[in-house]
Amino acid sequence: MACIAWLAASPAAAAAPFEDTMAQRTLACTACHGPQGRAAADGYYPRLAGKPAGYLYNQLLNFREGRRHYGLMTQLIDPLSDAYLLEMAQYFSSLEVPYPAPLPGTASADVLRLGRQLVSEGDASRKVPACIQCHGQAMTGVAPHIPGLLGLPRDYLNAQLGAWKAGQRQAHAPDCMQAVVERLSLEDINAVASWVATQPLPVNTHPASAPPALVAGSKAISCGSAPLPAVTLESKAKK
Ligand code: HEC
Ligand code: HEC
Repeated sequence: MACIAWLAASPAAAAAPFEDTMAQRTLACTACHGPQGRAAADGYYPRLAGKPAGYLYNQLLNFREGRRHYGLMTQLIDPLSDAYLLEMAQYFSSLEVPYPAPLPGTASADVLRLGRQLVSEGDASRKVPACIQCHGQAMTGVAPHIPGLLGLPRDYLNAQLGAWKAGQRQAHAPDCMQAVVERLSLEDINAVASWVATQPLPVNTHPASAPPALVAGSKAISCGSAPLPAVTLESKAKK
């Protein structure tokens, strides 16, 4: 309980009459992540609202256990229990907050074409899987562990994919995103981020409830942070 009081001990909380709700307890978070976790306008502080709960929870563990790095936030979550991190993840995941319209991009038609192609089809010659194979046909993610790609600013996408490439962002092993990004050049990353960031959101922005069927001939890549049913994992097949 001490940490709850401490999490609420922001100036905003002190001024308002204290109600013991998750909205109050997470005021320290929304100071950076925007009201209801809708993201700050500059694209630096990511959106939390509506992202799959298991994904958000995994990220909190990633920061606490050193697979992602942002000191100011890590300090805040360091003393919190796993159960409380999960509760916060579930709270932000449950919030229905409209997405802003995508910003018009400045990328050339060629760059956008490459981006669309990598996301929707991948590149078999370089063993790059289609991003939608995991992130869902509608690119809104797959509950509970895979985040959507839509509604994220280009700079955020570039920064996250760049961090994976530089080894500064990691996920639970096996880190499938690391395996994907390793096969992409910086030009590919820029193309993917530029195309994705200009795509409108569908009417239903919720993550899909199951991953799309594998395209014939493609192999599932296993993700430690989003385990597939054991039988479909490559690693199991090899045993
Ligand atoms: C000082 C500002 C700040 C505070 C306070 C803060 N965060 Fe963050 N948070 C960030 C930044 C910046 C990132 C992105 C860091 C990166 O990976 O580049 C982030 C990333 C995250 C992510 C990963 C999002 C994603 O889509 O991958 C989650 C989840 C998260 N924060 C939850 C929280 C919670 C819960 C709290 C309150 C306990 C909190 N944050 C407090 C700045 C903050
Ligand atoms: C084999 C499955 C798989 C494929 C293919 C894949 N991803 Fe991912 N992706 C994941 C998983 C799982 C996560 C969550 C990782 C974690 O827990 O940190 C993720 C996370 C991400 C994130 C972080 C989102 C955020 O809010 O911070 C981005 C960006 C991303 N993927 C982009 C891509 C792009 C672009 C492609 C195609 C070039 C791609 N992914 C292909 C499984 C995949």
